[in-house]
Amino acid sequence: MTTKKRVAILISGRGSNMAALIEAAKAPDYPAQIVGVFSNKPDAPGLDFARKNNIPTASVSHRDYASREAFDAEIEKALTNWAADFVCLAGFMRIFSTEFAQRWTGRILNIHPSLLPKYKGLHPQQQALNAHESESGCTVHWVTAELDAGPTILQRRVPILSGDTAETLAARILVEEHRAYPEALAKLARGEVAYAG
Ligand code: GRF
Repeated sequence: MTTKKRVAILISGRGSNMAALIEAAKAPDYPAQIVGVFSNKPDAPGLDFARKNNIPTASVSHRDYASREAFDAEIEKALTNWAADFVCLAGFMRIFSTEFAQRWTGRILNIHPSLLPKYKGLHPQQQALNAHESESGCTVHWVTAELDAGPTILQRRVPILSGDTAETLAARILVEEHRAYPEALAKLARGEVAYAG
């Protein structure tokens, strides 16, 4: 098979989507390999999972940097070190400088727990409930300089059930996220989708 694409993952916390990508990439015929996990939170639980799977990690607190640009330069160093072809954001709770976002456009993707363009930003599950939607879901999308606004790669839908809370809805969406993200990454690693923004 052709060379696997090299993928870095950026996290800030739990890292369940990161874990789903790491597990998927264990399949011999998966077209990408996870070459590093970076966190802006040195105590992010997801880092342990990565280490246990022998994946290189780097963690740097954004609080130690005077500017967004200076912090992004640290991310860039890790990505260069790992020779990453693509970057997957998985619960990474930092906004990039415009320069970084523009330099990586077409090589960086994110997963968001709503049917974008609806409910960008924080608490999208609660936003969907507040709007009395009958369904929600998740979106894997290209990252651009504007938050949660890049072109969609793939979406998965789930129903909203009566009695749902933000927590029960988030759990139902998360099951789909763990399927959607590896599927989307495989598509772009195989060259079946490309950024056309
Ligand atoms: C997920 O719901 C993801 O869509 C959103 O943040 C959450 C991260 O969860 N961007 P995890 O860290 O992957 O478990």
